[in-house]
Amino acid sequence: MITPKFEKNYCSNLLSWEELSNLVNNLPLMTVDRFKVNLPEDYKRNLHWESDRWTTNHRSVPSIVLKDIIENYVCHIEEMSRSTEAINSFARTIEETYHMPTDAHIYICKNVTVEHPFGIHFDDSHNVIVQCEGETNFKVWDMIKDRNQPLPKLLDHPLLDVDMKPGDAIWIPYHYPHLATSYTPRMSVSFPFMGDKPFQNREWIQL
Ligand SMILES: [Fe+2]
Repeated sequence: MITPKFEKNYCSNLLSWEELSNLVNNLPLMTVDRFKVNLPEDYKRNLHWESDRWTTNHRSVPSIVLKDIIENYVCHIEEMSRSTEAINSFARTIEETYHMPTDAHIYICKNVTVEHPFGIHFDDSHNVIVQCEGETNFKVWDMIKDRNQPLPKLLDHPLLDVDMKPGDAIWIPYHYPHLATSYTPRMSVSFPFMGDKPFQNREWIQL
């Protein structure tokens, strides 16, 4: 049974802005399949790029576009559970503890004035979220019994109402509505887990 909980200083130094910079500058990794953002329609309409002759995957987002999106919108990068050794071992611990496969989604919000695209919502997987940089308020409300029932309102009393600082972690089980509001530029890693085997191979290659 997974229940909502908050742990202060649970995992320090999981991922820094510096390490994330190295990841986002790795162009072949930053494809539109992995880099997710909700853009305004007119922004999307004007988004075109040409790939140079050495680019093998034309779905890679050019750095100048990536930089502009990261600076201005809430975005996340999926399939990052092997992006660093620390994230891979955190993912392994989740898989060993809950016996469910996990991924790592890196959430980035550098512009705190933009409205969070999800608002109050619930997910179809359990989640552990580790705050890595900045400060974000998380509210979690009681589980919804039926996915068609109305979502809680901001003024409804939450089960958890916490300000997450770097190193803090929160557990948000499947179908528990939640809301993230960043006070400062923020980066966090969310580990969604659900389902059954197979598990990703977690062998870490050290050369
Ligand atoms: Fe969520």
